[in-house]
Amino acid sequence: MMPWTIRTWFNASVLIVTCFSPVVLSKGRLNVLFIISDDLRPTIGCYGDPIVKSPNIDQLASKSSVFHNAYAQQAVCGPSRTSFLTSRRPDTTRLYDFNSYWRVHAGNYTTLPQYFKSQGYTTMSVGKVFHPGIASNHSDDYPYSWSVPPYHPPSFAYEKRKVCRGDDGKLHANLLCAVNVTEMPLKTLPDMENTAEAVRLLKSVKETGGPFFLAVGYYKPHIPFRIPQEFLELYPLENMTLAPDPDIPSGLPPVAYNPWADIRKREDVQSLNISFPYGPIPKDFQLRIRQHYFAAVSYMDAQVGRLLSALDELGLAKDTMVVFTADHGWSLGEHGEWAKYSNFDVATRVPLIVHVPGLTSAPQKPGEQAFPFVDVFSHSVRKFANGRAVREIVELVDLFPTLSELGGLKPPPPCPRSSFGVRLCTEGTSLARSVLSFHLRPNSEAIAYSQYPRPSDTPQEDSDLPFLADIRIMGYSIRSCDYRYTLWVTFDPASFQANMTDVHAGELYLLQDDPGQDRNVYDDREHGRVLGKLSGHHHWTSTLTQHLLYFNSGSKAKGLL
Ligand SMILES: *[C@@H]1O[C@H](CO)[C@@H](O)[C@H](O)[C@H]1NC(C)=O
Ligand SMILES: *[C@@H]1O[C@H](CO)[C@@H](O)[C@H](O)[C@H]1NC(C)=O
Ligand SMILES: *[C@@H]1O[C@H](CO)[C@@H](O)[C@H](O)[C@H]1NC(C)=O
Ligand SMILES: *[C@@H]1O[C@H](CO)[C@@H](O)[C@H](O)[C@H]1NC(C)=O
Ligand SMILES: *[C@@H]1O[C@H](CO)[C@@H](O)[C@H](O)[C@H]1NC(C)=O
Repeated sequence: MMPWTIRTWFNASVLIVTCFSPVVLSKGRLNVLFIISDDLRPTIGCYGDPIVKSPNIDQLASKSSVFHNAYAQQAVCGPSRTSFLTSRRPDTTRLYDFNSYWRVHAGNYTTLPQYFKSQGYTTMSVGKVFHPGIASNHSDDYPYSWSVPPYHPPSFAYEKRKVCRGDDGKLHANLLCAVNVTEMPLKTLPDMENTAEAVRLLKSVKETGGPFFLAVGYYKPHIPFRIPQEFLELYPLENMTLAPDPDIPSGLPPVAYNPWADIRKREDVQSLNISFPYGPIPKDFQLRIRQHYFAAVSYMDAQVGRLLSALDELGLAKDTMVVFTADHGWSLGEHGEWAKYSNFDVATRVPLIVHVPGLTSAPQKPGEQAFPFVDVFSHSVRKFANGRAVREIVELVDLFPTLSELGGLKPPPPCPRSSFGVRLCTEGTSLARSVLSFHLRPNSEAIAYSQYPRPSDTPQEDSDLPFLADIRIMGYSIRSCDYRYTLWVTFDPASFQANMTDVHAGELYLLQDDPGQDRNVYDDREHGRVLGKLSGHHHWTSTLTQHLLYFNSGSKAKGLL
């Protein structure tokens, strides 16, 4: 098969993309380095965060298209990963918890790496790419998705053990777990092992030749914050601040609230006797959680830096597309919430950085380093230029067609309305044009869909992560450029059907005045009028409820609006 490739020319620092006739160069296929961070919201330098130090990701971003409005389809690891790796929404993977394998439970869907593998790529998985366990048949979907058995770092076995030195000097299974790495079992940490293995694989594919797709799933900043202790020094506690909106807003429907059960299970948090479900966590501990999260991000950034500098040193950078993203975000105390498990932006919004050598950056000159490692502890840490900002609203289901098209493969066709029997199709849209074009006007009407299941109307122990059989309510959420609208409706887990007319609660946040999503105006008497106004500058022809119905039939919602 002749690979067809969107390539264009790089002309005096201005990218020219002819809209309907992509210029095809015969440079062939690009390798893919796909980096996924676990639970990372875009609190990184290149997204404008003033505190977090992420020089290596910032350097990558300076040579990339940076999507500022990218959203996950469900803010929890297993469902989000299965969704973006198959390019189907959770209503089509039928995975809302961690307890089924889509190939037998929903449909035998072709995955992103499997597609590359079928096109002659060597596909490799390091760390957490698929969610482990039943969700990927205890094999990370090997051998379907991968050419070689996926790698898991041995030191991950100690991740949740009592290895964190507590304030009492004893070892605990704590949330806050800044450690002396040389004192850890195996004297290393999982993400360090991931980097070493990924570099080893790069060396080996360089020798064997042929195109490769290497997915590297970093575990941080996921809890526990088991990180090298020196990274805490970057974030003095006295410099930490609380979330700007740390209180539970009065208009927050109880069904929307996630009671952060995973955090409560850690020993240091247990000893605080925090009341269920609303807490709050004592303010000084909130500051420490934020400090540790930021430090975990800097530690993960250092791993990304090691990996990218190795790619560069092996001479592979000029032929490798690098994509950096996360499975979902993480609330750091906003509206009194922590962790993921909700439909708010803090939980659903993710970083998405796409680097295509020679296209999103100038071609690498001979002898020039594309990604020199940046030591965050150095006093002269460089500041990097912003990458090309893409403001359009996009979704993680878009990754599969986007990476295919940019890599030089034919993107999968759009899914038909019911796609359970269709192996290869996408519920997303290729973003190749947005990645490559400078001056294409963003589609201001684009929207992102997310959803979250609940077992009940009020927060319970299992509200964050109900088993499929216990799901009674589904929160379907739409994010446009100017509002977030969520409806919590009755859901039947036996038939996977939502009853869109049985609304338990609704949320409407108008982002121009309320970017943090703290003032729910759904019950506002004005809300009908507000929605009416909104529909004026959107091409909405019927009620939101009808649009959301499309979710439930597993269709390509965007195309049907
Ligand atoms: C699922 O699809 C894969 C290829 O994608 C194929 O090898 C396998 O036989 C299929 N399984 C079933 C049960 O159809
Ligand atoms: C899941 O793994 C089991 C055990 O290795 C294997 O027998 C089974 O065929 C796998 N399922 C699919 C759909 O490949
Ligand atoms: C880390 O632990 C090693 C071995 O116990 C010790 O020699 C070293 O001083 C410790 N480093 C720090 C910074 O505490
Ligand atoms: C902490 O804040 C002070 C005062 O704003 C600032 O000078 C210092 O650089 C900050 N420290 C770090 C490590 O960011
Ligand atoms: C937490 O509760 C336990 C048992 O009720 C009690 O012994 C302990 O003193 C409490 N700790 C704090 C910090 O309030």
